[in-house]
Amino acid sequence: MNILILGGGGREHSLAWAAMQNPKCDKLIVAPGNAGIAEIADCARLDIKDPGAVVQFVGDNAIDFVIIGPEAPLAAGVADALREAGILVFGPDQAAARLEASKAFTKEICDAAQVPTAAYAHFTDAQAARDYIIAQGAPIVVKADGLAAGKGVIVAMSVDEALAAVDDMFAGSFGAAGAEVVIEEFMTGEEASFFVLCDGEEALPIGTAQDHKRVGEGDTGPNTGGMGAYSPAPVMTDAVTQRALDEIVRPTLAEMVRRGTPYRGVLYAGLMIENGAPRLVEYNCRFGDPECQVLMLRLGAQAFDLMQAAAEGRLGEAQVTWAADHAMTVVMAAKGYPGSYEKGTPIRGLDALPEDSQHMCFHAGTAEQDGQIVASGGRVLNLTARGVDLKQAHDRAYAMIDMIDWPGGFCRRDIGWRALS
Ligand code: AMP
Ligand code: GLY
Repeated sequence: MNILILGGGGREHSLAWAAMQNPKCDKLIVAPGNAGIAEIADCARLDIKDPGAVVQFVGDNAIDFVIIGPEAPLAAGVADALREAGILVFGPDQAAARLEASKAFTKEICDAAQVPTAAYAHFTDAQAARDYIIAQGAPIVVKADGLAAGKGVIVAMSVDEALAAVDDMFAGSFGAAGAEVVIEEFMTGEEASFFVLCDGEEALPIGTAQDHKRVGEGDTGPNTGGMGAYSPAPVMTDAVTQRALDEIVRPTLAEMVRRGTPYRGVLYAGLMIENGAPRLVEYNCRFGDPECQVLMLRLGAQAFDLMQAAAEGRLGEAQVTWAADHAMTVVMAAKGYPGSYEKGTPIRGLDALPEDSQHMCFHAGTAEQDGQIVASGGRVLNLTARGVDLKQAHDRAYAMIDMIDWPGGFCRRDIGWRALS
């Protein structure tokens, strides 16, 4: 098969790696890709948010199967255009991708399907939102309705902070994403990510993970896209996983079918677990980054077969073969991230890294300049390892970190601390 993967981060490098492990994969193109992906696949320039351009590219390159990594092409309707053109695609249609693109839509689905989640109210007017916050008190959570690159959520510990967030959003600091605001009850508990492949009707769980969103050790400082992750998430016991499937994921899929917009692709449920009961924090319509990196290393080549089965509507007959193992990924980012950071700093030591079924260095923001790998983004490398337990995965990932010579970069030294302590 000829495969096209859209995206160019660590997530897409791990998807490309899993595809290349599979003998079915004859040719792999990734758009735009990165310097690490370029070592295993062809990288192409393509406007991945332009449905017409993607369909054209697929025709020109005899592509049989498209895997969409990030949310932006999904929200732009790239999967719809490919399906209309009769091309096999992994990723939901635009209407189903609203589960990520609109928080108000997700809340409406939760109401209709009786999915446990935080109590909420939805506002298009700043004064009404302010009045609601004053009536509810803090802590309280303020969310911009639309896609805000992971930055549209303010967990406010005081009423003043919540009011400032509302003013900010209605003043346009998140653009159109903040023209509507969802205000939610603050939930307590432990967070975990649950990944389920869906083909419209069937749901196949493919793993759990926990990530570290804050930039600083001890989970402090500003939010990032994620500084590291591990799988499985200890809080996702078999019983909690079964409840998440029965009480959250399956009712959601049934409601999407009822509305005539079946969900196909990976559904990433962000959960809050308290006293063994999972509640939905949010849905994403794509794999998490860096959570995908640990899932792909654990699943290997079968990940590709499972994504193909989801795209072809054959999940009912698919099965996941689990090794009883653990994986961890540690992100190296450019100093200054998630604020402003330098680009173009050289990264050395990559060639000596082990690369096998237990160890992979997935690239995110890297580029090649005159034969040298340099940083070209905020999150740059994902040092990823498996082990018989989380401690071994942790030690292997950090041993790889210690082989990297990149004065312009940094990482958190405490990924997995909660699960390891
Ligand atoms: P989201 O983008 O919706 O995942 O929100 C980002 C982060 O904010 C989540 O991972 C949680 O840590 C936190 N968060 C979001 N909603 C709530 C809530 N209702 N209660 C507590 N924390 C929340
Ligand atoms: N790592 C969190 C996300 O991909 O949304």
